[in-house]
Amino acid sequence: MRQIRYLHETPACSSSGGALFVHRDSPENNPDTPFEFTPENKKRIEAIIGNYPGGHKSAAVMAVLDLAQRQHGWLPISAMNKVAEILEMPPMRVYEVATFYTMYNRKPVGKYHIQVCTTTPCMLRDSDSILEAIKKKLGIEVGETTPDKLFTLIEVECLGACVNAPMVQINDNYYEDLTPKDIEDIIDELKAGKVPKPGPRYAIFV
Ligand code: FES
Repeated sequence: MRQIRYLHETPACSSSGGALFVHRDSPENNPDTPFEFTPENKKRIEAIIGNYPGGHKSAAVMAVLDLAQRQHGWLPISAMNKVAEILEMPPMRVYEVATFYTMYNRKPVGKYHIQVCTTTPCMLRDSDSILEAIKKKLGIEVGETTPDKLFTLIEVECLGACVNAPMVQINDNYYEDLTPKDIEDIIDELKAGKVPKPGPRYAIFV
């Protein structure tokens, strides 16, 4: 029987993918965690800042946080502090952005970061069955990473592909019009070291 969810069951921290908004220093994530942009990325940052009018460096915060995450694999607080320093922003303003969007990972994630959309259009197209298929296949719950560090699973709000619901994002790719069998096949391909073809599944086979 289909799972019934009530509005009040939405996790309080859903926009952080189940993670706490608060930061607590740990051996791997503290203000002294080594982080410095590579020379190549420093040039990219200059180009990004150049897209905005003078005096509005802070407008580049999302793009520069994304660059930091792509370089490091995730976003330690030291990387956020570096972004704040470069963009001449109070660190708190950077933390506010990094904690609001699920695209920023404030703790290490697996090689494949699976983000399952469960907002209304996807829910109506049975995203619950996709989420359950992933949990069963990988043996993990939302917010967890497989022991081999290959997969991390989170639940996210609308990713803007409602027309092809239900869908998931895995790293930078969207997989859409999914059935539970589709997502199982996608996971098998990833485990085999392949990159499954992104996009709507039904369009691939008709
Ligand atoms: S509701 Fe899932 S992509 Fe919009």
